[in-house]
Amino acid sequence: MIVLDGKKVAAEKRAKLREFLTSCKAKGVRMPKLAIVIVGHNPASETYVANKMKACAEVGIEVEKIAFEADITERQLLTEIRKLNRDKSVDGFIVQLPLPEHISEAKVLTTIDYRKDVDGLTPMSIGRSVQGLPAIPSATPSGIRTLLEYYQIPTAGKHVVVIGRSNIVGKPMALMLMQRPYLSLPSVSAAALGDATVTVCHSKTQDLAAICRTADIIIVAAGCPGLLTAEMVKPGATVIDVGINRVEDPASPRGYKLVGDVDFEHVSQVAGAISPVPGGVGPMTIASLLSNVVAVYDMNVPGYKVSE
Ligand code: GUN
Repeated sequence: MIVLDGKKVAAEKRAKLREFLTSCKAKGVRMPKLAIVIVGHNPASETYVANKMKACAEVGIEVEKIAFEADITERQLLTEIRKLNRDKSVDGFIVQLPLPEHISEAKVLTTIDYRKDVDGLTPMSIGRSVQGLPAIPSATPSGIRTLLEYYQIPTAGKHVVVIGRSNIVGKPMALMLMQRPYLSLPSVSAAALGDATVTVCHSKTQDLAAICRTADIIIVAAGCPGLLTAEMVKPGATVIDVGINRVEDPASPRGYKLVGDVDFEHVSQVAGAISPVPGGVGPMTIASLLSNVVAVYDMNVPGYKVSE
């Protein structure tokens, strides 16, 4: 059984980006800039944003955090997003999700200029991907694709079961795996996995276990600790755990621990390869975000190409 070490693969990816940006700096070219919009004080979001900022600093991406209180109106937030769309000093930006209930996520994502959508979550980015047009890939699915590529786990002709139908993970992941391989953006990835037969399962799916047992690869993004158990996994299958759930843990100084959607202890005895939580998909998502920022920057500052 192989543990898919997202921490290691992400570190290698960051090192490549850092090397590229160091060479840009030596040539006197301006550095890329990412803005991160966060609304309110969701503790998990604050941790994710802090991790993203740290990773940016490490590779040489300038990063600005733009924080608003939870009572900002939708109209005010959309105005701020339009400002970022116009701001020439910003190569790309993200709006950390989830948002407070009074703000429409759909409206926010629709307002972000897709050319700056380094999360790859706007309707334009997703729609362009659907049609095989150059588009910024969604960060989490792109990170998972890189992890599969790294460990040379092929997807062509394989049955992939995706559990979860979110706009952030399930839907773009299914799309990425089912389509003909293509290059999302010239500098994002030299290779691309696809050509899989994909089944998307969700909370209303009947006999999830039977469907999962037919899968060569299972990608779980349901936000449900322990959802995938050993009995649901075909021996030798690859299991990717996208869940990041906080569960109470009196033994931890923080009072909680992070667990995925997979019963790691038992599934790891059946699976051929499995990604852990933490240290699996999480760091890969951040590495993909950085890669997307650099890809956009690379187009904004022509003549300096990322070599992968
Ligand atoms: N919330 C959880 N994951 C993500 C992500 O990848 N991007 C954004 N913007 N918000 C998130």
